[in-house]
Amino acid sequence: MNNLGLPPIIQGGMGAAVSSWFLARTVANEGQLGVVSGTALETVVARRLQNGDEGGHMQEALSHFPYPEVAEEILAKFYRAGGRNGEPFRPMRRLSIQAHREHDQLAVAANFVEVWLAKQSGNGKVGINFLEKLQTATPAALYGAMLAGVDAILMGAGIPREIPQLMTDFSQGKSGHLSIDSERPSGVDAPILEFDPLESFGKAPELPRPAFLAIVTAEVLASYLARNEITRPDGFIVEHYMAGGHNAPPRRMQDTETGYGPLDEPNIAKIRDVGLPFWMAGGRATPKSAEQAIELGAEGVQVGSLFALSNESGLLPEYREQMLDAARNGNLRVRTDHLASPTGFPFKVVELPGTVGEQSTYEARPRLCDLGYLRSSHIDEAGKVSYRCAAEPDKPYLKKGGEEPELAGRICLCNGLVAAVGLGQERPDGYKEAPLLTLGSTTSDVEGMLKEFPNGWSAVDVVNRLLSGINNAKAPV
Ligand SMILES: Cc1cc2nc3c(=O)[nH]c(=O)nc-3n(C[C@H](O)[C@H](O)[C@H](O)COP(=O)(O)O)c2cc1C
Repeated sequence: MNNLGLPPIIQGGMGAAVSSWFLARTVANEGQLGVVSGTALETVVARRLQNGDEGGHMQEALSHFPYPEVAEEILAKFYRAGGRNGEPFRPMRRLSIQAHREHDQLAVAANFVEVWLAKQSGNGKVGINFLEKLQTATPAALYGAMLAGVDAILMGAGIPREIPQLMTDFSQGKSGHLSIDSERPSGVDAPILEFDPLESFGKAPELPRPAFLAIVTAEVLASYLARNEITRPDGFIVEHYMAGGHNAPPRRMQDTETGYGPLDEPNIAKIRDVGLPFWMAGGRATPKSAEQAIELGAEGVQVGSLFALSNESGLLPEYREQMLDAARNGNLRVRTDHLASPTGFPFKVVELPGTVGEQSTYEARPRLCDLGYLRSSHIDEAGKVSYRCAAEPDKPYLKKGGEEPELAGRICLCNGLVAAVGLGQERPDGYKEAPLLTLGSTTSDVEGMLKEFPNGWSAVDVVNRLLSGINNAKAPV
């Protein structure tokens, strides 16, 4: 065990709600780190409530939220005892660079709920994963997770230089600040988003400070973050470009199937020299590759895809089964799509019929932006702020200063990902959002697992299989 007290297996955070509280709790129960996804949790929790809160878990967790009047307001607004009866989900306020009390309260409560539920596992450790790019969502979400006693914060898709300080401030009962990377005229400072617990709840208790693991691919980013005590994380997840979800862009676009090449291989020797504990992720889910990770000096591995396909995953069972069937037939195809994500980062897209990873389903979707997590903010000369997302409808995007070539091939990740966990919007005109599925591109992990568990597997099976490799490892030289 390392000085952070974190175990060798990290079940990767998988948005949105693929790594739900139930998956994380199962993994934490096994003594490993279960990680819930912190992406869009206020939408996830609000929609679970509108669907009737099967099992009563949202209500149970909310009954433990330290601010009961806020919990009651949330229930009054979103809970529908009998479900929606075909009504669309309520529209949500989209995030902006200004704090908004009611939305912040919901975000705090939703993150509290997911972590609290995952933590009902005895002494198991639970982390939460955020995307750096979703800056406007981060302060309130982080606060909610800390309020529930989260053990680790994991953050990728950007350079999380201000997160360690934000965590320290919240743990000391202070308000927290985050600079927002708005596009702005030269000489204008980045806007600062503040979340002040005292203002939202009238109280700001001291809270335990979790460990912070930054998700990186390149050793330069690891050493840059580690150099200064303000930006230094407690450890790293070193993620290979084969990992599911978003990936760091290639250093230089290569003429290969994925666009990546040898330059994009993480330099583990240099990462080891940085001197902080690290875990390896992306195609590290066979016993052999987990064993090798330890021998290279890692504390362990972070694994996503095999957990996403396990019985406890938040993915709708029918989509999970479709992917497993495709793998059984040898045609599970995952492409590295350099256009799909409006963030500009490459994104792994599973190509399955009926999902937006398939061209005809993608083209049949009328563009609409109603969740807006990936919107970027732009400040003009007069100080006016506008928001846009390259997956939104063309006309407003162009009117707000967006450029035509940016629109091509963009997928609405927000709607596609929440549809994958059974929380997709049904629009008033009858259009039903189609799911977007993502997995890592190392299908050998999945095939190896299928050989041992042809009818599917539980998260516990994944943990045991990884442990069989980890326990075999020799001490690193
Ligand atoms: C379905 C799915 C969703 C993911 N979503 C996220 C995410 O929201 N944020 C993130 O940092 N990583 C995300 N990942 C990456 C995982 O946390 C993990 O690092 C990765 O899956 C490890 O590689 P593997 O899939 O080859 O095991 C996702 C992966 C999958 C499979």
